Amino acid sequence: MNLKAKLDELEIFKKVAKASATLGIKSYVVGGYVRDLVLGRPSKDIDFTCVGSGIKLAQEVAKSFDQHVPLSVFKNFGTAMLKLDDWEIEFVGARKESYRLESRKPIVEDGTLQEDLERRDFTINALAISLNREDYGDLIDPFDGLGDMKRKIIKTPLEPGITFSDDPLRMMRAVRFAAQLNFDIDADTFFAISENAARLQIISAERIIDELNKIVATPKPSYGFKLLFASKLLHEFFPEMVELQGVDSVDDKSHKDNFYHTLQVLDNVCLMTDNLWLRWAAIMHDIAKPATKRFNPKVGWTFHGHEDRGARMTPNIFRRLKLPMDDRMKYVQKLVRLHLRPIALVKDEVTDSAMRRLLFDAGDDIEDLMTLCRADITSKNNKKVKRYLENFDKVEEKMKEVEEKDQVRNFQPPVSGEEIMKTFGLSPSKIIGEIKEEIKEAILEGKIQNNPESARKLMLDIARSKGIAPKDTHHITKKNN
Ligand code: CTP
Repeated sequence: MNLKAKLDELEIFKKVAKASATLGIKSYVVGGYVRDLVLGRPSKDIDFTCVGSGIKLAQEVAKSFDQHVPLSVFKNFGTAMLKLDDWEIEFVGARKESYRLESRKPIVEDGTLQEDLERRDFTINALAISLNREDYGDLIDPFDGLGDMKRKIIKTPLEPGITFSDDPLRMMRAVRFAAQLNFDIDADTFFAISENAARLQIISAERIIDELNKIVATPKPSYGFKLLFASKLLHEFFPEMVELQGVDSVDDKSHKDNFYHTLQVLDNVCLMTDNLWLRWAAIMHDIAKPATKRFNPKVGWTFHGHEDRGARMTPNIFRRLKLPMDDRMKYVQKLVRLHLRPIALVKDEVTDSAMRRLLFDAGDDIEDLMTLCRADITSKNNKKVKRYLENFDKVEEKMKEVEEKDQVRNFQPPVSGEEIMKTFGLSPSKIIGEIKEEIKEAILEGKIQNNPESARKLMLDIARSKGIAPKDTHHITKKNN
């Protein structure tokens, strides 16, 4: 590969080379940018390392632009960052860095390029391209990162125990890079991860979830999860998912392995969507199966109520993993709670009212729910899968008809609480909610049409049955507040 030609495509490399020459220091493009350049992956982050002050180099480079470019300096870390359009460009002095055992705060000492590269995480990231006059564009690859890219191997440059004790998050990163690049993890490196998995405990949940979400975002996340499971990293932060693994048998009756089933559902969802939270719904959909598992000699294994229990577990798991606690959690929770409902619609003689209820409960997330349900069909029997999917097509058709007719998907009560209070001269109280609820139920059940006239008529009937009269003919017979 002609790296010089690649460098010529962006003017920043010439600018950094010139600034280094002016300052009389040596500088290099390093790390992920070089890796991605060789692998032909797009990247918007460039890291420069110099043997000298990264901050001075960044200031010199910033001066060379005609226009003002925003420069952030982090004195404590000896780094500086330039933002150029959507590029993030970081400058740092070469360092030999060691980490105290129970902390991830580095003690930083200046070092040579070799020392800087050997303290990095993986051979494929321990690459540099020279920006110096005598060897401009040459690749510096002391640990055969290029060879490992060809062999598709994630491997630490030093003895893996040392690299991982510098920063245990690198164990997650090993799996993440393997998952993103579809590489293997070198046997010694993998063994060291299994040995040191418990050291993940000193890493913050935020850093772990960043890596995990990068794994979830890959096209086939089951691979990353299998590595997390086999290395026992998963056990350190997501024991509920580990619990899904395993098959129990009683009287020759076994249930399926819910860990591998979940991974298949996740991969299936990933074929249909990039939505991270729909992917998380797939991860969570059966999470309460171990907690609800029972053996009944007549019917075999059951997991009654796992959808509700799973929905109740969702906030706790999200909180602990430092996933967002906002609408995104609520969305995952809703899909977990509803994930069996469309299947029930396939089996039974379906009534319009069951359809209306599901449309009302799922609201705008109905399509995503159907995607999850389709992904949940993981039988090895292709005929069975085909039949189920065709049944889902029918459910969706029916749903469309009902929605066109009744518009319950974004159900807004046709009479408001305000109107109820005004009509009967009531102040805010429990009874207003009760009347509203009865009207909603009647619409979903198909007893009345979803329009204001029918709803108002029912409102008067319900009030009469409770002994409440409209304000203008006010003769209340029962105390109702
Ligand atoms: N690095 C490291 N150990 C870490 C994090 C980073 O050695 N725990 C080094 C690697 O050389 C890496 C570089 O710092 O290439 C930049 O890190 P980062 O930006 O996090 O990762 P990239 O390799 O650029 O990959 P990505 O952008 O996909 O995260």
